[in-house]
Amino acid sequence: MFAQVNSIGLFGLNAFPVTTEISSSQGVPAVNISGLADLSVQESRLRIKAAAENCGIKLPKAVFTINLAPADVKKTGSFYDLPILVAMLSVSGVLDCDLSDCAFIGEVSLNGDVCFVQGALSMAIKAAECGIKRLFLPYENAAEAAVVKDIEVYGVKNIASLAAHLNGLSFIPRAKPAQFDILEKIGIPDFADVKGQDSVKGAIETAAAGFHNILLIGPPGTGKSMIAKRIPGILPRMTFEESIETTQIHSVAGILNREHPLVTERPFRDVSHTASSVGLIGGGSIPKPGEISIAHNGVLFLDEFPEFDRKVLETLRQPLENGEITISRASGSITYPCNIMLAAAMNPCPCGNYGATGKVCTCSKKQVENYLGKISRPVLDRIDIQVEVPSVKYEELSGAEKSESSEIIAERVQKARDIQLERFRGTDIRTNSQITPDLLREVCVMDEQAGQFLKNAFEKSGLSARAYDRILKVARTCADLDGAEIINKRHVARAVQYRTLDRKYWA
Ligand SMILES: Nc1ncnc2c1ncn2[C@@H]1O[C@H](COP(=O)(O)OP(=O)(O)OP(=O)(O)O)[C@@H](O)[C@H]1O
Ligand SMILES: [Mg+2]
Ligand SMILES: [Zn+2]
Repeated sequence: MFAQVNSIGLFGLNAFPVTTEISSSQGVPAVNISGLADLSVQESRLRIKAAAENCGIKLPKAVFTINLAPADVKKTGSFYDLPILVAMLSVSGVLDCDLSDCAFIGEVSLNGDVCFVQGALSMAIKAAECGIKRLFLPYENAAEAAVVKDIEVYGVKNIASLAAHLNGLSFIPRAKPAQFDILEKIGIPDFADVKGQDSVKGAIETAAAGFHNILLIGPPGTGKSMIAKRIPGILPRMTFEESIETTQIHSVAGILNREHPLVTERPFRDVSHTASSVGLIGGGSIPKPGEISIAHNGVLFLDEFPEFDRKVLETLRQPLENGEITISRASGSITYPCNIMLAAAMNPCPCGNYGATGKVCTCSKKQVENYLGKISRPVLDRIDIQVEVPSVKYEELSGAEKSESSEIIAERVQKARDIQLERFRGTDIRTNSQITPDLLREVCVMDEQAGQFLKNAFEKSGLSARAYDRILKVARTCADLDGAEIINKRHVARAVQYRTLDRKYWA
């Protein structure tokens, strides 16, 4: 007797179709699984046997030979339990139905319950692409998977109800998709609490609008951490496409909120400087996404930037440039997207006062150099906006005047982001920070004065070609915040100013 059942495998974010082929014959009862199935798949035999017994499902005493095709691709994970069980029931005649347009995913527990799996959204997308019409997966994954169009999703609570459904004895209702609803921003600190620091807030607003990396540098206690932690309150809304991308990563990482399985808020990952490179970049024997990918379409906040291990900081170079990170392991290489806005904050030296007006730095020249030297030139070059956070004047701190609220700043950021969405419609680009060299001249048109200003700035301060491109992109964002189509001198001047700190501190 022979049967086959469709399933989907997963490696990182890469989902792929898997066919569970089964043949049964008489003999001493046994279950053999082939097809590069690792230990987690092999153990499925034990779980399935117990689950069937405990649910009163009779599996015939036979020799089951199971192959997970394609046989040359490694299979790992406990989610093959369900297709293997369905294949056994099908080949033994316990199920009497056509399964050719169905696929099954899920781990089965000893009492027959079908348990939550990681990466369900990526698998559901692949199932739909493969032309599967009905997807059966754990009940707790159903809303997440049902977001995918062109496929019916059924959330299975236990194997007995699945068998009854497939035999037409009772029905599992079709799952409703998780809603793409933007949650209210509750509990996020507000920019209204930050006194003064207008130029820093302006820089943060520009960074959020164009998705530019930003570095805040200044003496202790000037509000760098305070300001950075308020970024989530001004970020533009996620698009549905972005939500799906980020949800897939969070699903694979196992951090999805089961009550609200679509990520609809841009991530803000505040990562401690004690983070390992695996924690930040991703890794493990079957590589999991790191913080940089979990932050995809949102913000990666690295406070006390020079305190990070230098090697860890250097690993950021490639992903910051490419918006994706490839992790290679013996088990294969996995690529995770990481299109992020990096927000970093730091003191300029161990005592914190180097370069600050009215303050005395007690560090030696060597100490300052070593400290700043932890941020390498290539990393610094990838940070479009660099701002000093000076001490706030006493009058500003003690004044009763309320600062502008995050809500108002967010409105301007959203407008600027909407302009970008419209501008880049039909391309792979979403924000000004991603403008490619071939588009730069076309998209960043300057008036004559602006062009002259940039030329002078270049000749005076010997900026690099990379700096030139980056200044233009930031100037584009300044113009978008202004609602201006043509970049003017003021826009360029601001963008140039955001690139002057590296020469002050890192000259
Ligand atoms: N501009 C400001 N308006 C209101 N309060 C401020 C401001 N700047 C600093 N503070 C107060 O000072 C505290 C310390 O600020 P914060 O921790 O953000 O400083 P920092 O620049 O990150 O310092 P460090 O370099 O030591 O990390 C804040 O929690 C806040 O109470
Ligand atoms: Mg701080
Ligand atoms: Zn110092």
